[in-house]
Parts: sequence; C-alpha cells; structure tokens
Amino acid sequence: MLRSMDEDFGNAGSRTHQLGRRARSAVEHARDQVAAVVGSARGDVIFTSGATESNNLAILGLSSSAGDRRHIVSTAIEHHAVLEPLAELGRRGFEVTLVQPGPRGVVESDAVLAALRPDTLLVSIMHVNNETGVLQPVAQIANRLEGTETYLHVDAAQSFAREIDPLRHARVDLISVSAHKINGPKGIGALVMRRRDGRRPPLRPLMFGGGQERLLRPGTLPVPLAVGLGLAAELAVAEAEARDARCRAFREALLAGLAPLDPAINGDPKSSVPYILNLSFPGLDAETVIDAWSDLVAISNGAACTTESYTCSHVLSAMQLPDWRKDGALRFSWGPASPEPDWSALVAAVEPYRGVGRVGIT
Ligand SMILES: Cc1ncc(COP(=O)(O)O)c(C=O)c1O
Repeated sequence: MLRSMDEDFGNAGSRTHQLGRRARSAVEHARDQVAAVVGSARGDVIFTSGATESNNLAILGLSSSAGDRRHIVSTAIEHHAVLEPLAELGRRGFEVTLVQPGPRGVVESDAVLAALRPDTLLVSIMHVNNETGVLQPVAQIANRLEGTETYLHVDAAQSFAREIDPLRHARVDLISVSAHKINGPKGIGALVMRRRDGRRPPLRPLMFGGGQERLLRPGTLPVPLAVGLGLAAELAVAEAEARDARCRAFREALLAGLAPLDPAINGDPKSSVPYILNLSFPGLDAETVIDAWSDLVAISNGAACTTESYTCSHVLSAMQLPDWRKDGALRFSWGPASPEPDWSALVAAVEPYRGVGRVGIT
C-alpha cells in the first residue's frame, strides 16, 4: 500500500505512461487475489467502497433489469446494508419476503426455498450473521436453486477469505466483500459477479461517469486500498488454519474466563464462526456491562453501526429471545492477533452490579 502511495502513485486508468501502467498492474493483481479466494475469474471482480456499496449494487443493480420478476427473498437477520436497499425496492413496487430464523439464529434452507415463487428474481442471504456469528446454509440454498432462474446474492462481509468453501459454489452468483473484516484497509470492498452459462448477472450501474469497473462503478480507483484488499485476502487464505486455531483458542479462553458470570450464548454454538460470540449474563443488562468495561475492552451490544442509540437488535428480536437475553446481549468479536484481556478483571468490574438493575450512564 505504501509503495502505491509513494512511488507507483499513477492513475490505474492511465494507459499512456509507465506510472499508470504500474498502478493498473497492481490493481489487476489485487483483482486476481480477490477472485482466487472464491474460485472466480479476474473479470468477475468489481471494486467498491465496501460491502455496503456491494450489497446496494447487487440488489438495486439487478432490480433494474428485472422485467416482470419483481419478487425478492431475503432474511429478517440481514445487515442494514441489505435490509435498506430491500426497503427501497419495496418503495419501487417490488415484493420482498423476509424469512425468519429459528431461535438459534439459523435460517433454514427449507424456509428459504418455501418462499420462492415463479417471479422470484433474487435470493439475498448473508453467510455469517454479524451479531451472532451464526453461519447460514449458503451451500444448501445454492444447491437447491440449481435449475431455477433465480439469482443468489451472498453478503459475505463477515466470511470472505475465512469460511471459504461455500463461497466457491458455482451457483452463488453475487458475493459482497469487505476488506476491513480481514485486516485490510477501510473504504474498499468488492462485488464478485460470477459467470453462469457464460453470462454474468445483468446488473445496471447505480452511478454514471467514467468507464471504470466495466462501467458498473465509475470513478478513479483507490489503488493503495485495492492493493491492501488483495493482499489481505491472500494472507487470510494462506494463514486460514493458523488464524482459525488462534480464534478458537481465544473463544475457549473467553468462555472459561467469563464463566463466573454464567453466560448464555445467543446463537447456535455448533454452527458459528470462531471469531464472534453474542452473550447475555443473567442479572446484568448490556449498558451496565459496557459502562463497567469501557476502559478494559472494546465491546458493543450489537452491530457497531447501531450502538449510538442502544436500539434493540432486530436479529435477536427475530430469534424471539426472551427480554433479558435481548437486553443483556453483548457482541464479542476478535481476530487472530487480538490480545486476551484480563478476564478476572472483567468479571470483578461487573460483579457488584449483578442483579441490582441498571447503573446510570452519564
Ligand atoms: C454482514 C455485514 N454486511 C455488510 C456490512 C457493511 O460493510 P462495510 O463496512 O464494508 O460497508 C457489514 C459491516 O459490519 C456486515 O457485518
């Protein structure tokens, strides 16, 4: 990334000079690195600003060539970066069916398939839920869409280059990727548009300008960020086993360290990634814990984007958890290099508040 800022700082769209050609070749190398993770071709990768933009481009972009197929199936536990473009499609006259999860946070493939109609244009499902870490049955859904006209989009913000096999499924047409979930830079992501029977999903652009990114995402490419995404993706796959082992060890240490608080796991522990946990502690509400731990760990009570308002999570509500579990829910996430906090200090910091209700947030 530094080389792309200091030395090879050309515009990847400039073909007439060395600097531009060097920038272009760095971008194309990054495109190869992203494509390789999902077993796709270089030309299938469109760089975007992140998974939010990729989701919007996939969902709104596909809807522009929908014809009379105006039904979309998704789930009630998607990130807002999917739910909001779907709401926009609702305002534009599309019908959206949101399939509910079970109490353990899994959306069953049967339920998704049952929601399909002859006019279903798209199924959009996340691979890993960002609040609970629960894996969704992407490969089963992909298998069962075989032989139908319906496109499949996967929001893989939380799984790209970490949960690899399901995203290589040939029947997954569109994949949203974010760099900053795999130690890459913020502000870059990608949409993978896989060819099927020789054709890519017929997306129309959301913005108009220069001809960059196959006319689908105009604007000068941020070369250093693309380079960062490419390398982050390659490293995540190369180190997948070691990273997985370290994340699993952290998860075990966390559950052992916080065991004195009797945590209940929100989500199916048997079908979850080893880098996210959603826990509720009996007798402690989330605000109390966040307040007590604010100088000890970086912790939130849901998706980072909604913490300001402490709004109750739509994901845990859809799972129909009892109120104490929803009010007390804390989202823990970590990476392979996260240092372990002092677990006993965390336990000690909240012990005095157990069962006494809310402490004031000033
Ligand atoms: C499941 C999911 N989708 C989409 C996004 C948005 O990604 P980005 O920040 O790259 O726009 C996130 C971010 O947390 C996410 O967890």
